[in-house]
This record gives sequence, C-alpha cells and structure tokens, in this order.
Amino acid sequence: MPTTAHTKPLVLANWKMNLSVQESVVLARNLAAAYSKLKLKEHLELVLCPTFPALAPVAEVLKRQSVCLGAQDVFWKPVGPYTGEVSARVLKELGVTHVIIGHSERRQFLKESDAMVQQKVLATLAEGITPVLCVGETFSERQTGQKYLVIARQVASALAGVTLTSGLGLVIAYEPVWVIGSGQAVETHEAQETALVIRHTLLDVFSESTIARQVRIIYGGSVDPVNIGNFVGRGLLAGVLVGGASLEAKRFTNLMKKL
Ligand code: 13P
Repeated sequence: MPTTAHTKPLVLANWKMNLSVQESVVLARNLAAAYSKLKLKEHLELVLCPTFPALAPVAEVLKRQSVCLGAQDVFWKPVGPYTGEVSARVLKELGVTHVIIGHSERRQFLKESDAMVQQKVLATLAEGITPVLCVGETFSERQTGQKYLVIARQVASALAGVTLTSGLGLVIAYEPVWVIGSGQAVETHEAQETALVIRHTLLDVFSESTIARQVRIIYGGSVDPVNIGNFVGRGLLAGVLVGGASLEAKRFTNLMKKL
C-alpha cells in the first residue's frame, strides 16, 4: 500500500444549488462552530463548497477558522470578455483553496467536455488552488462494461499536460453518476477497485512519490453518517465528497464525528 503524506481524511461538502446565500452562511457558521467545539480538526480536513454568490459571505464566516472554502466550478481563462464566468484568479482572491471540476452534473447539463475539464484543471493549478477532479461512469456505461475505460479516459484527458510542482495538490473524486442522490452508495470494494484503476492511470502522468505526497483519491455518491466508515481510510480512499448529507448541520456533524 503506498504511503500518503496526508494523514487526515478530506471531507468536502458540495452544497450544489440547494441553498440560498443566507442559508449557506448559517450552515457554514454552525459547521465551523461544531468543527471547533468537537476538535474535529484533529480528525479531518473540512472544505465547504457553497454556490458562487455565497463564497464571499461564507469566506467571512470562515475567517480565522481552520475550515477551507471550495468553489463548485471555474472558468479556464484568467481574465477577459467571458460573460457570466468566474476565473481562478477571482476565486483565489476570495480565499478559495479547492475547486470542484468536471462534476457529472456539469458534464450532463452544461455539456462540459474532457477538453474543458482539462483547461479548468490547468487554470486552477496555475493559481495554486487544488482541483477536485470528478470522474465516474453512468449506469449504462457500467452495464455495458465500459466503466474502467471511461474513468481512465476521464482521468488521463483531464491531466494531459499537467505537472504538479511542489506545494500543489490534486484530488480525484470517484463519483458513480448513477449513485449520486440515490441514497444508495456503491459497495466498498467497488469504490476501492475504482480507486486502484484511478491510481494506475495516475502513474502514467505522475511519479509514485508525487502521487503519494500530492494526490488524494476520494469517493462521492450518497455518502451518509451510516456508510461513511465504508469509504474513508479504506484502501486508497482518502476522503469523501458529500452532497445531500452535508445540507443540514446536525446530520453532517454526525457524519464527521464518525471519523
Ligand atoms: P450525494 O451525496 O447527494 O449523492 O451527492 C454526491 C455529489 O454529487 C457530491 O459532489
């Protein structure tokens, strides 16, 4: 088993488009208070990913807290005439440390391609922000035996031309599309096997020591306070990306307390 420089599991809350700005601020405040009171910092790293307009007010809440701020998307150009888009430069300015890239919902509804995902990864790393690259198969890709081909393709194409100079981090989130929001996570062995495939693909891009020090593979898809133990710290899995179960302070705190 490869050693990893990251000892604490990484927990990211992806609030998607579910909360208002005010609701995001209140939830961030409650979670930051629980994180501090329960000394959860000793057990896990926490990243909250609110909707774009809530980033600045949530950043204000997290000031002087050890909870990190994540964005749910980014554009690949640093500046220019790109109406409606947000650059990594601006995200950095707001204190964002992680950016979710290539989420299946964006690939599906916004037609985000592998090439766009790759540009976003490069732009994010250029600002010293950690990309959280999402990969995962659809149900039909799984049923037709294409799962590992799809995942290897998504990882390899997103990382084409990427170098991880020291100090930069990268997270790969395995999120089976058919499991997201279903309430039924995959079996532990399936997530572990997929993490192994991701790691093999990573070895074509980075050295073993770079992977051990700078890359983390995590799982996402219907993670909840009951099944969290099936994923964190099992095999190569170093954390979780949580959607629905991160939307309510008590439930999400219960999930974190399991780590
Ligand atoms: P759920 O935890 O709601 O299945 O969402 C997972 C996800 O898409 C996180 O990015």
